[in-house]
Amino acid sequence: MKKTIRDYDLKGKKVIIRVDFNVPMKDSVITDDNRIKESLETIRYAVDHEAKVILLSHLGRIKKEEDKKGKTLRPIAIRLSELLEKPILFVYETRGKRVEEAVNNMKNGDIVLLENTRFEDIDGKKESSSDAELGKYWADLGDIYINDAFGTSHREHASNVGIASRLPNGIGFLIEKELEYLEPAINNPEQPFTVILGGAKVNDKIGVIENLVHKADFILIGGGMAYTFLKSQGKEIGSSLCDQENLQFCNEILSTYCDKIILPLDSLCTKSLESKEGTIKTELDSDDIGVDIGPKTVELFKKYLEISKTIVWNGPVGIFEEPAFSKGTKNLLEILKQNSGVTILGGGDTASAAIHFGYKESMTHISTGGGASLEMLEGKDLPGISIITEQ
Ligand code: 3PG
Repeated sequence: MKKTIRDYDLKGKKVIIRVDFNVPMKDSVITDDNRIKESLETIRYAVDHEAKVILLSHLGRIKKEEDKKGKTLRPIAIRLSELLEKPILFVYETRGKRVEEAVNNMKNGDIVLLENTRFEDIDGKKESSSDAELGKYWADLGDIYINDAFGTSHREHASNVGIASRLPNGIGFLIEKELEYLEPAINNPEQPFTVILGGAKVNDKIGVIENLVHKADFILIGGGMAYTFLKSQGKEIGSSLCDQENLQFCNEILSTYCDKIILPLDSLCTKSLESKEGTIKTELDSDDIGVDIGPKTVELFKKYLEISKTIVWNGPVGIFEEPAFSKGTKNLLEILKQNSGVTILGGGDTASAAIHFGYKESMTHISTGGGASLEMLEGKDLPGISIITEQ
């Protein structure tokens, strides 16, 4: 068990909380504030316990000066302030005199949010390579470090591992909740245990398949990645997505686990992704593009899902962002809603789909971590969590 924010007397202490405010944005407008909302409990707890709260987060990936455009955390400070109904002091810098002044002038219960930690990546990838001097600089700003950025915990960066290794530390409520649901579902699931995998590329899910094929009773495959599996069986997939370099992996895993890995029986197909129209087909023509699972596949998947006591889903089964191609993903969400067992959704696109279609409250848990939840499903250790002190 990791130490948590509850294990510390926060009164009057400068508490650095690493949050994951890497939220989707369009033209500097936040399009999904779920990650901000999920971080509120820890921030409120620190404020209520009279801490001086210093928030750190990244937004996007910054390699060169132009990448900074649209990547300031300022809009996030505004949204956070609205949600907390409390002023937030936003500092447009990641270090220096203004940062130090802001921190030194804080009173108990104040909140300061520093600028995007990855602005430090322009000059030698200091944040992303966990530069020791940067980790020490940030650690010197505070007394206690709390990691609540589950979505970033698969990274070993200055703003998580770099600070945690230099200060008394713990996890926040968001990470505590992620571990509470994800660990038992992956390591000790009530059976039958079914995994749904979707998304575009087989390559992104090889580690998950290799780890979970031994634990799961069934792995249902949909989305773009299903076509590589179908092609490896010699089926016509037209112009659908295909990971050529992983055809052999698909073929081998299918022959070893043919009773466990369940592939689509039909697809919604289109001739062009711009057309927004599709036809259900069991056999694709050479110019078809598969964009969603079809009704026979939904019925087939339903048979496995209905009997499952634990379901973990990572990756949408169609191009759900386009309403005409979203039915398969919506149908599976509805089937999971009816399931009385444990239903866990990996973050990223699957979480966005569930929240967008109104299923947030119908699942046991929706992870805030895309890559981080995938790495947990792969059985890997997450450095941002491993570094936190045990109780
Ligand atoms: C995420 O959105 O998955 C996290 O915030 C991590 O972002 P990254 O993949 O850019 O490190």
